[in-house]
Amino acid sequence: MQYGYFDDDAREYVITRPDTPYPWINYLGSEDFYGLFSNTSGGYCFYRDARLLRLTRYRYNNVPTDSGGRYFYIRDGGDIWTPSWMPMKSALDSYECRHGMGYSRISSVRSGLAFSQTSFVPLKDNCEIHKIVLTNESKADKDVDVFSFIEFCLWNANDDMTNFQRNFSIGEVEVEEGGSRIYHKTEYRERRNHYALWAVNVPVAGFDTDRQTFLGLYNGFNHPDAVFAGKANNSVASGWAPIGSHHIKAHLKPGESKALVFVLGYCENPDDKKWASPGVINKAPANALLEKYGSPEAADRALAALKDYWDALLGRFSVEAEDKRMTRMAGVWNQYQCMVTFNMSRSASYFESGIGRGMGFRDSNQDLLGFVHLVPERARARILDIAATQFPDGSAYHQYQPLTKRGNNEVGSGFNDDPLWLICGVAAYIKETGDFGILEEKVPFDNREELADSLFIHLKRSFDYTVTHTGPHGLPLIGRADWNDCLNLNCFSKTPGESFQTTANFESGIAESVLIAAIFVFNGPDYIEICRRTGRAEEAAYAAKAVASMTETIKAHGWDGNWFLRAYDAYGHKIGSHECEDGQIYIESNGFAVMAEIGLDDGRAQKALDSVKDKLDTKYGIVLQQPAYKEYHLELGEVSSYPPGYKENAGIFCHNNPWVTIAETKLGRGTRAFETYTKICPAYREDDSDLRRLEPYVYAQMVAGKDAPRFGEAKNSWLTGTAAWTFVSISQYILGVRPVFDGLLIDPCIPVAMKGFSVIRHFQNAVYRITVNNSAGVEKGVKTVTLDGKPLDGAVLPALGDGKTHEVSVVMGLK
Ligand code: GLC
Ligand code: GLC
Repeated sequence: MQYGYFDDDAREYVITRPDTPYPWINYLGSEDFYGLFSNTSGGYCFYRDARLLRLTRYRYNNVPTDSGGRYFYIRDGGDIWTPSWMPMKSALDSYECRHGMGYSRISSVRSGLAFSQTSFVPLKDNCEIHKIVLTNESKADKDVDVFSFIEFCLWNANDDMTNFQRNFSIGEVEVEEGGSRIYHKTEYRERRNHYALWAVNVPVAGFDTDRQTFLGLYNGFNHPDAVFAGKANNSVASGWAPIGSHHIKAHLKPGESKALVFVLGYCENPDDKKWASPGVINKAPANALLEKYGSPEAADRALAALKDYWDALLGRFSVEAEDKRMTRMAGVWNQYQCMVTFNMSRSASYFESGIGRGMGFRDSNQDLLGFVHLVPERARARILDIAATQFPDGSAYHQYQPLTKRGNNEVGSGFNDDPLWLICGVAAYIKETGDFGILEEKVPFDNREELADSLFIHLKRSFDYTVTHTGPHGLPLIGRADWNDCLNLNCFSKTPGESFQTTANFESGIAESVLIAAIFVFNGPDYIEICRRTGRAEEAAYAAKAVASMTETIKAHGWDGNWFLRAYDAYGHKIGSHECEDGQIYIESNGFAVMAEIGLDDGRAQKALDSVKDKLDTKYGIVLQQPAYKEYHLELGEVSSYPPGYKENAGIFCHNNPWVTIAETKLGRGTRAFETYTKICPAYREDDSDLRRLEPYVYAQMVAGKDAPRFGEAKNSWLTGTAAWTFVSISQYILGVRPVFDGLLIDPCIPVAMKGFSVIRHFQNAVYRITVNNSAGVEKGVKTVTLDGKPLDGAVLPALGDGKTHEVSVVMGLK
C-alpha cells in the first residue's frame, strides 16, 4: 500500500498519513547548517558536525520511535493536540506532509483550526526557520494557545548522551524580550564562543527553559504539564536539561489567519567579542538573524530563494521519458539524495547517529560521482580536503571529522581500496569540469603542511600503493577490508564487541582482494589519460604496464570458471569460489571486473554476469553473495556475523547493484541493465511500502535478501553510496550522457521497448538539449548524432563553453 504520492510539478513527495511504516524524513540545509526532519516534525539540527556542534537533542532508538523534534502544541479552547500528529498522536481531520527540495511542510486540521508548518534552512544562514500559520476555518471566534518546544543538546552529542555527572550541572540559558528570545549558552562561559537561539517574532505570554518544569518529571513529550495547565512557568534552566518553549496566545475570528516565524539558530562570536557585559552574551549575531527573518514575508522570500536555488541545480540534468518513475528519480530525487550524501557522507541520518562516523575517505570520493555536475566548485574543495588526510605512503584514514577536517582513527586505516577511490573522484571531477589545474594544487599529507605535495602526487601515491602492496598471487593485499567493510580477512576476532574493522589478530600478510584489483583496472585508464594529458608520458607508460599486468593477474588467479573470485583469505584459500561451502559467488568482484572491461574480449564478462543473474538475482535486487554464511567464520570476519540475508551477508546491498547495471551496459544488454536499475529503485516499490517500510523517494543501503525472514524490507535509507552510483548508472550508462576527457559522450544502452527520451545537460558552461530516438528498437549503438543541425563525426559532443543552448539529435541503430 502507498502512504503518499509524488507531486512531480512541485518536486515534492506528499505523505498523506502520519503513521508511515517508519519515520520518513527529509534534510533541511545546503551547506553548513543542517536539520533532519521527519514527517511528524521529529529530528534535530546541527552546525557542520552532527557530533561536535549539535543544537538540539535527539534520542536514537527511542520508544516510541522518533520522539523529540520541533514540536508545537495547540490548545484550542480546552482541546489540546499536536498538529504534527506526534508526540500526542492526536486524531486529525486532515494531515499532509510535503517533503520538498530542502524544505518540508506539515499541514493539518482539527475541529476547524487549520495549522501549517513550513520548515527549512535558508541559503547562507545558519538557522532553521519554522513558519507557522494558524487559520480559523470554523464559524466562531477561537482563542488559541500555541506552545513551542525544542530540547537543547549540550553541543557534543556524544557527551550529551553519556556524561551525566557533568551535564546535569552545566546547562545555562538567557531569556530576553519577555521570553520570545531564548538563548542556550552552556559552556559559553569557558571555551565555547557559540550559542543557540530559539526565538519567535511576536510577544509571548510566557516561556519555559527547564524541561522538568515544562513537561513534568514523569511525563513524556505527549503530556507537558505546562500545556495542560494552559500556562507557561517562566522557568529559567540551571543545570539539568535546558529547553526552549514559548507560550503564544492568539485570538482568531472566523476565516482569520495568523503567521508566526520561529528561528532556531547557531550564533558565533569572535573570542574578544563574546560578552555584552559580564555574564551576558553578545547578541549581535542573533539580532542580525532575527532582523532578517523577523516576518512571515521574509520567511517566504527565503523559501522562494531556496526553491530558485534547487530549480537551477536540478536544471543541470533533467530527463523526459515515458516512464515517470524513472524520470522523477533520475531527474529529481536521486540527485537530491546525492546532494545529501555529499553533505553528510555517512554521519547523520535515522540510522547513523551523527556521533559514530564522520566523512569516509572511500565514501566521500564515491559520493562525488553523483554530485560533481551539481556544484563542481564544492566537489573541488572536497577533493582537496579528502586528499589532505591521506598518508604519505598513499594509504588513508578511513574517515575524517567534517568540522576539523582531520583524519580520525576510530575505524582505523589500512582499508586497501581507499587510495584508489581518490583517483576515481578526481577523474570524475576533471571530466566534468576540464579543470586539470586541480592536479597542481599543493595538498598536505596527513594534514601536515610540511609534507604537502601536488594533488597529482597524491594520485600517484594512491596508484603506487596498490602496485606495491600485492600478495602471493600478485593481487592487491586486502588490509583491514576493501569496499566490503565486513570482509575482514586479517581480523580473527573471538572477543565479543571487538571491532572487526580495527582489530587484526592474524596478519599472515597474504590475504588478497580481487575487487581491489578490479577497482585498480577500472581506474587505470583514467589515471593513464591524466598522465598523458599533463605531459607525464613516462608515468603513463609505467601505469599502462601495471594495469595490463594486473588484468592478466586477474585472469590467471581471479577467475573461478564461471565467475570472478572474490578474494584469497589469510591462509590463501579462495573466497567466492564454487569450491566454497558458502559464499561461492559475490557480486562486487563480478560487477567491478566487467565495469573495468575485463573479460569483454574472451567471453568471461558475459559468463560472469550470467552467473550473477542466475545465482544472485531476486525480485528486489541482487544479493551480495550466495549461499549466505550460515555460521560465523573466524577467518572471514564481520561478513559472516550477520544473520543470513542481512547487510553484507547476502543482503541486497544496493550500493553495488548499479555496478552490475553499468557492467550490463558494457555488454550492451540494455533491457537487463534497466531491469537491475528498477529493482532497487524505491519509486518502483511505492505501493509496496508496508513491506519496504522506508521512504519511496530515496535509496536505502540495504534491502533484506532472500535468506532473511523479512525479505524485501529496507534499512538504512539516505546515506549510502547507492545514490551516487545509481545516478551514474542511469544518467551516464543507461541514458548514456557521459562526461569524458574530450567532452560529453552520447552512448545510451536502453531496453528495446524504450523508444526514446530527452535529456537537458549543462556541461562546462553550455547547455545541451539532447533528443534520442530509438524507433529502431535497439539496446545500444548510435547511428547518427547532429549538433545544432550539423552531423557530428562520432558521438562526443565537444565542450563548447559558450554559455549557449545547443540542440543535439541522436538516432540509435546500426551504423
Ligand atoms: C557502508 C560503508 C561503505 C562500505 C559498505 C560496504 O555503506 O559506508 O564504506 O563500502 O558499507 O561494507
Ligand atoms: C559495519 C556495517 C558496514 C559499515 C561498517 C562501518 O561493518 O556492516 O555496512 O560500512 O560497519 O564501519
